[in-house]
Amino acid sequence: MSKGRFITVEGPEGAGKTTVVAEMKKQLESEGFEVLLTREPGGIDIAEKIRGIILNPDHTTMDGRTEALLYAAARRQHLVERVKPALEAGKIVLCDRFIDSSLAYQGHARGLGIDEVWKINEFAIESMMPDATLYFDLSPEEGMKRIAANKGREVNRLDLEGMAFHEKVYEGYQLIKARFPERIKTLDASGTVEAVTSDALQIVRAILED
Ligand code: TMP
Repeated sequence: MSKGRFITVEGPEGAGKTTVVAEMKKQLESEGFEVLLTREPGGIDIAEKIRGIILNPDHTTMDGRTEALLYAAARRQHLVERVKPALEAGKIVLCDRFIDSSLAYQGHARGLGIDEVWKINEFAIESMMPDATLYFDLSPEEGMKRIAANKGREVNRLDLEGMAFHEKVYEGYQLIKARFPERIKTLDASGTVEAVTSDALQIVRAILED
C-alpha cells in the first residue's frame, strides 16, 4: 500500500487558502495523483453540524473553552472518518485548517494558552500530525480588506471579532511557526492566485519526492 501524505493549509482570514487549495487539487489530479480536499471544522456530517454550532453568529455567549473543545471534537471525528481512510488509501489529503488554527485562534487570540489548547488536541488527534503545513502569510489588515470586498462570503461568528483579535491570530501563527519550523512552510499570500498556487505546488512536490 502506498503511503498517503497529510498536508494542512493555514493562515488568517482572507488569505486565499480555499481558492488556492482548489487549484492545487485540480493540478495534482491532472498529474495523476489522488487527492482528497477537505476542510475544518467540517468535511463530514457530524463535524459540519458542530461547525454550525461554533460559527452561528447568534451564539454570542459561547465560552472560549467550549469553543476550543468543539473544534477539537469536530477535528477528531473528521480525522477518524475522513482523513485516516484517505491516507491509508494512499491519497494526498489537503486539509483547509487543522490543529494550528486552534493553537492560533483559541490558544493565543482567545488567550486560553497555546499549551493548554495543545493538550486537548493531543487527546483528539493521538499524534496524527500533518506531514507538512502550508502557512499563507498575509497581514491582518490586508486579509480584512479582502473579506470586506468579498460580499458573497458567509459571515461567521469569528468574523464579527474586531481587528485586535485578528492581529492576535496573526501573532499566534508567528509563535506556532517558531515552534514547528520543520513542518510549517510559509508562503507569501499577497500575490495572485496563480503565483501562490505555483509556490504551494512547488512545496508539495518536494514533500511528495521525500
Ligand atoms: P474558515 O473560514 O477557514 O472555514 O474557518 C472557520 C473559522 O473557524 C475561521 O474564523 C477560523 C476558525 N477556526 C478556529 O478558530 N479554530 C480552529 O481550530 C479552526 C479549524 C477554525
